[in-house]
Amino acid sequence: KQGSAVHINGQIYSLDSWSNVTPGILAKTTRKLHLHPSHPISIIRSHIENHFATFKPLNNYHPVVTTRQNFDDLYIPVDHPSRNISDNYYINQTTMLRAHTSAHQLQGLRSGASKFLISGDVYRRDEIDASHYPVFHQMEGFQYFDMSVPSITADQVNADIAIQTPTIANKIHTFDDTVINVRNPIQSSHPIEAAMPVIAHLKHSLNSMVRMLFHDEPDLQVKWVDAYFPFTSPSWEMEVLYQGKWLELCGCGVVHQGIMNAAGENLLSAISIQDYKIGWAFGFGLERLAMVLFDIPDIRLFWSQDPRFLDQFAGGKIFKFQPFSKYPPCIKDMSFWLGEEWNENNFCSVVREVAGDIVEDVKKIDDFVHSKTNKRSMCYRIVYRSMDRNVTNEEINNIQEVVRNQVQEKLGVELR
Ligand code: PHE
Repeated sequence: KQGSAVHINGQIYSLDSWSNVTPGILAKTTRKLHLHPSHPISIIRSHIENHFATFKPLNNYHPVVTTRQNFDDLYIPVDHPSRNISDNYYINQTTMLRAHTSAHQLQGLRSGASKFLISGDVYRRDEIDASHYPVFHQMEGFQYFDMSVPSITADQVNADIAIQTPTIANKIHTFDDTVINVRNPIQSSHPIEAAMPVIAHLKHSLNSMVRMLFHDEPDLQVKWVDAYFPFTSPSWEMEVLYQGKWLELCGCGVVHQGIMNAAGENLLSAISIQDYKIGWAFGFGLERLAMVLFDIPDIRLFWSQDPRFLDQFAGGKIFKFQPFSKYPPCIKDMSFWLGEEWNENNFCSVVREVAGDIVEDVKKIDDFVHSKTNKRSMCYRIVYRSMDRNVTNEEINNIQEVVRNQVQEKLGVELR
């Protein structure tokens, strides 16, 4: 790794001892599913963009960001677990594939827009199953108001809320027992009479957006839950009731004033004026939305180039996906004694890199410590299945053999 470099979307980056990007992941950076006109991810994006028609769409930010953009600028502390090497794809110690679109909030602000949407591919190391994939897409929404005279601006904010209201009349039930208190406070620099209308505007904007997306649900139930993000306060998560389950859709909140002020630093406007600018932000996972709205059963399908998948979306509308027949799985177990360190995300990375999209699910099925040797043993079940064809046992045996060798070599385990 030392001394070598990678090319990503026309830029060159040097690698170091932090690098953990893999060729399979880097290959995804050129796909840009959110910009393919008849791809479900892009269809959801454009529905949201149409809903927030006056927002500036920013969809082409480079997926490589600095750790400062991804973390420090957003007040994510240096020891925060979200920075772990096992959760992120680092190019080197100071550069990474963005883990969320929030990494571009400052750029959005510096673009001069007071309301904007940012969509893009984001990268996180994670477990393997039908709803997790190391690359997915997010959409960030951001709007700020100049609240220098709160009593006047509050009227404007409320007027903006009123404009959106007819679209959601009587068809949405919101459950909101969130409380603003010391655990989820209004920021000390925000006068309460300025913060409250901004909060109302945020909640209303998101309520009306999901009402639009879920227009087929006659009685949409939406729940607001208190949350925590280092870059917003107060913060919430929004959930919708879908087929009997509460589904977490997005995180949001009132933007940390330090971000607003940092955006002002490079502009001519004085920081004292920036202080009166109060913003809200939200971040949605687009796959999550697309899976429920289109009835797409497996997250790997979004990456499929199979016309039986893609052709269904040519019309650009939201409708229920017709699954093509599910091909049979091929299931393999593997057991090993652990070495010094163990991290399940590292294991999943190795499996994913060898098997690609043929791996559907990785589950731990056994975990015990030997009473005499004190060695810990694990057994994992790997489900292999192709989205578009039958796989043969022989083919999967070959893959499994490579997986076993790589796991042994890279993770220091002893195969059983
Ligand atoms: N970036 C957050 C995430 O990925 C979501 C978020 C966006 C929360 C904007 C608050 C404001 O989980």
